[in-house]
Amino acid sequence: MEKKPVIEVEGVSVSRSGTRVIEGANFTVLQGEFVGVVGPNGGGKTTLIKATLGLLPRDSGAVRLFGQPVEQFNTWKRIAYVGQDAVNFDQTFPLSVRELVSLGRIQKENLGHRLTGDDWRRVDEILGFMGIRDLAEKRIGQLSGGQKQRVFVAKAMVREPDILFLDEPVAGVDAETQERFYMKLSNLNAQRGTTIIDVSHDLSAVFCRMSRVICVNREVNVADIGDEMGFTKALKKAYGDHFHFVFHEHMCEGLFADDRPD
Ligand SMILES: Nc1ncnc2c1ncn2[C@@H]1O[C@H](COP(=O)(O)OP(=O)(O)OP(=O)(O)O)[C@@H](O)[C@H]1O
Ligand SMILES: [Mg+2]
Repeated sequence: MEKKPVIEVEGVSVSRSGTRVIEGANFTVLQGEFVGVVGPNGGGKTTLIKATLGLLPRDSGAVRLFGQPVEQFNTWKRIAYVGQDAVNFDQTFPLSVRELVSLGRIQKENLGHRLTGDDWRRVDEILGFMGIRDLAEKRIGQLSGGQKQRVFVAKAMVREPDILFLDEPVAGVDAETQERFYMKLSNLNAQRGTTIIDVSHDLSAVFCRMSRVICVNREVNVADIGDEMGFTKALKKAYGDHFHFVFHEHMCEGLFADDRPD
């Protein structure tokens, strides 16, 4: 079956405070893809994601989600987004981790209704999935930064979206948890077919699991992981000529072999 494009970005330019930060972005993401977004600090990754979701105005260009112009798109329950600043959250918010994650199960259709047993089962499943079951009854304000991040990712995942946008979901989280997180994410991608767009600074943690990488530094260049030359070129455009990325094929071998993109 031919995979459909679920995100189409055409000639998109975006300014912030009068300065152009994204220039003529063009890319398509196909259903079921696991795509990375990389680039230096201030390169425009967050801006690009927000503009793709219609959360920031564009100077020019068009965005389509599931084939619909983003302005007309209205099935937002198909999309989940964990922003970079999700953890900057009211520390006194009086909900437990389990309650906060359960909010992810609330949709327009069940607004005002009690969550069902099935909803709670999924909440508990995802708490286990993210390794935060032991934190379930803690108040969100009592958690560390990395723990909070996992809670917000859990809240996004429990919605079972078709597309999951993550903006540095595990920045500042310890290496072992990061590794486990990406393994789980790639399982989600492989088993549920969830399309994943993941902004990350650490390429080594993610690149084996992705089909393509979007390199952002005002200009936006997309590279296939399999195309070593194209990939290196796109990275150098984003990070500068001095940037050197060493391909370690062995990093991919054996690791999550079942989950690698084909
Ligand atoms: N709220 C804002 N108001 C004005 N300018 C902004 C705002 N947010 C970001 N910018 C500017 O837009 C440019 C791109 O920022 P953006 O946050 O998209 O980069 P990023 O690639 O996500 O960086 P990081 O890796 O640090 O998250 C930067 O020059 C930044 O200063
Ligand atoms: Mg950012």
